[in-house]
Amino acid sequence: MAHTEIVVLGLGYVGCVTAACFARLGYSVTGVDRDELKVNAVLAARAPFFEPGLEELIQKGVAAGRLKASVDAAAALAQADFAFICVGTPSQANGSQSLEQLERICQQLRPVLSKRGKPLVVVVRSTVFPGTAEEVVMPALGAAPGQAAVVSNPEFLREGSAVKDFLEPSLVVVGGADAGAVARTSALYGPLGVPVCQVSLRAAEMIKYACNAFHAVKIAFANEVGALSTRFDVDPQEVMATLCRDEKLNISPAYLKPGFAFGGSCLPKDLRALNFRASRLDLELPLLRSALSSNQAHLDRAIHAILALPAQKLGVVGLAFKENTDDVRESPVVALLESLIGKGRQVRVHDPHIRMDSIYGANRNFVESSIPHIGKLLDSSLEGLLGWADHLVIAQKQGPEAMRKIGESRLPVTDLVNRVTG
Ligand SMILES: NC(=O)c1ccc[n+]([C@@H]2O[C@H](COP(=O)([O-])OP(=O)(O)OC[C@H]3O[C@@H](n4cnc5c(N)ncnc54)[C@H](O)[C@@H]3O)[C@@H](O)[C@H]2O)c1
Repeated sequence: MAHTEIVVLGLGYVGCVTAACFARLGYSVTGVDRDELKVNAVLAARAPFFEPGLEELIQKGVAAGRLKASVDAAAALAQADFAFICVGTPSQANGSQSLEQLERICQQLRPVLSKRGKPLVVVVRSTVFPGTAEEVVMPALGAAPGQAAVVSNPEFLREGSAVKDFLEPSLVVVGGADAGAVARTSALYGPLGVPVCQVSLRAAEMIKYACNAFHAVKIAFANEVGALSTRFDVDPQEVMATLCRDEKLNISPAYLKPGFAFGGSCLPKDLRALNFRASRLDLELPLLRSALSSNQAHLDRAIHAILALPAQKLGVVGLAFKENTDDVRESPVVALLESLIGKGRQVRVHDPHIRMDSIYGANRNFVESSIPHIGKLLDSSLEGLLGWADHLVIAQKQGPEAMRKIGESRLPVTDLVNRVTG
């Protein structure tokens, strides 16, 4: 391995573990902190805080001469190839994120860049919002071309198992616009033998928040289902362990692709029943209660986006609550169409599985009794819809043949399935 010098800025939980683990991987590492106590601890081969396995790594790194520490960022950065920014981004009183430490460390980096003879890869490891690297870090560094490239490499470690999490990571993400800097940062993780997800700069920043939000939602979900199970005299562990056995729909990428609102004859009905029963049991389940209102808010965003279009004739593709079914009960498309009609838009709709002369039973009854006005808007052929509309709204996943025809029509498209309105 070519000699690689890494400077880690901030020796808190993230920075200290990052520094010790990169030294363990064979790189030459200097940890920098403004807190002399942390620097002195590392220089004395001690961990500045308790974290299983950390002190041992620090001892080995220091003894091998691969791990140093300093309060002098400028001196440490003189020969560095990488600067990992690991400073804190704590909450402010109103819940917003403080970037004070990040801005200050960038100001310290700025004068150093022009004095160095080689480019520096500045890696933002602190948790920051999408756009921070571009809008805060890059302007604060003020680097001339070739002096520095900024990448994002969020940290996913958990306190208590941080060293293990670094050396056996669940996910390594590197984002940036400079392909060379992204490749060099990714290569640092080569000895771990894990794939590195290379994404855009903003996506890397966002993924960290998405992961933490997902973990919080998972815990809250398990605890709400657990509480409800207990009230029903059911073993919560048995329920959740069995739920996790389903690796097709439950513990899988299923239902995790942003798209259009959910609907149909099961999810809304069962969530309503669950929430009704919970309230009867005097049980507060805010997460489960919010799922339907979250879905409604998502639908409302789509409606507002479509109402803002300069279109006269809206052709909606898909009417059932999802593809490959003719079930229109509680389809979010029905609510979408009703809003558009209510606001005076001209609308027609095509669904490959729904023609009034070919749907039967409960489904036909529902269309005739509950949404007869929508039945009248149906276009039995996609071609008919394409010929009539001046704007298309894709409300349901379509097959390749339909997508080809839609593409060839050259009509402007609002794709609710693949593009999420924010
Ligand atoms: N702690 C975690 O479990 C964890 C996990 C993943 C991501 N993160 C994120 O990583 C970042 C760091 O978290 P942490 O828990 O390590 O924070 P921390 O507060 O423990 O450590 C930050 C360190 O940066 C130092 N520092 C600040 N400004 C400095 C400067 N100008 N020069 C030198 N040193 C400076 C501080 O003295 C402190 O030691 C945060 O954005 C956090 O959200 C934390």
